Amino acid sequence: MTPRRTLLALASLAVCALATGPLAAQTTTKLKVGLMLPYTGTYAALGNAIENGLRLYVSEQGGKLGGREVEFFKVDDESDPAKATDNVNKLVKRDQVDVLVGTVHSGVAMAMAKVAKETNTLLVVPNAGADAVTGPLCGPNIVRSSFSNWQPGYAMGEVMAKKGHKKVVTITWKYAAGDESVKGFKEAFEKAGGQVVKDLSLPFPNVEFQALLTEIAATKPDAVFTFFAGAGAVKFVKDYAAAGLKKNIPLYGSGFLTDGTLEAQGADAEGLFTALHYGDSLNTPRDNAFRLAYAKTYKLQPDVYAVQGYDAGQILGIGLAAVKGDVSKKAEFAAAVQKAKIDSPRGAFSISKAGNPVQDFYLRQVVGKENKVVGVASKGLADPARGCKL
Ligand code: PHB
Repeated sequence: MTPRRTLLALASLAVCALATGPLAAQTTTKLKVGLMLPYTGTYAALGNAIENGLRLYVSEQGGKLGGREVEFFKVDDESDPAKATDNVNKLVKRDQVDVLVGTVHSGVAMAMAKVAKETNTLLVVPNAGADAVTGPLCGPNIVRSSFSNWQPGYAMGEVMAKKGHKKVVTITWKYAAGDESVKGFKEAFEKAGGQVVKDLSLPFPNVEFQALLTEIAATKPDAVFTFFAGAGAVKFVKDYAAAGLKKNIPLYGSGFLTDGTLEAQGADAEGLFTALHYGDSLNTPRDNAFRLAYAKTYKLQPDVYAVQGYDAGQILGIGLAAVKGDVSKKAEFAAAVQKAKIDSPRGAFSISKAGNPVQDFYLRQVVGKENKVVGVASKGLADPARGCKL
């Protein structure tokens, strides 16, 4: 090589190194994923299913997302909003994670979203429906793989009105998820001419339902709409039947009431109608493959939480591939995710500008140990994203 050529070759090598240097460093270091989920308490099973789903997706990708090997850091948030800010800071400040994934409980998720905003950390919410997360707290670094609380409530409001119910009592836990599910339900049900005659609630995670069930019996509504989930949902469905209400006053809910709970609820759940973005009998090639892989890996049947965890992985995979593993590129991450169709076991869905899934809500009925899909409650339902300014 002539000296001039050598010089040119060296110069172009230097340019290459400059262009790829920081990126190469990004993609060769591990991607630290901070998992903040409930592993104890009424939502423990939900947290475990989410982690299982996420790990399944990551292992299908050879343990990598966006070209980077994934390393998990875990915190049990106990579904306790009072500990949430400290817990999320363990991941962000102590462990210095690149990405946060969490959580189940809406109150905890709002604290996570605030910290994610302040520290500009990428956050994928694999369950908690808090409307604020994709409302006033929305941002390019926050995306949800699940639903907003408004969505299943709204879908069920339309269904119950169509079924001809006029006077309804609602019953739920007094916190964002319960309040917002009921609000979504009311919006659709009252628009269609129905009337909510009484709103009943108890503090989360209490399960002393007796006095409230007595009040339902005395009020004699046409039907009841409810939001409960996890271990609390198991107890509520059993207590509702034991109080003799099931045969006289039909019980409806957002689908969490009967998801991941049917083994424990047994015959007391039989026949219940719920609305949710997943069901047990979709029988699509995509869902069948997912269910088989999940069952083989964990010796368990998946539920909606497992799907949401799996899809949190898919969303991360799509966004991180677009930025080649560089988590600092929030706007490019968000743009890629919003352009994508997520090939979910629930059916393909897209992500709105506010970061929430736009998706079908199925009408399901409990038949044996399955939430059988019997129709579509609301097609392509988008959260109104009230208060989201982008
Ligand atoms: C919530 O707190 O947002 C929440 C918890 C459990 C569910 C659904 C929503 O199943």
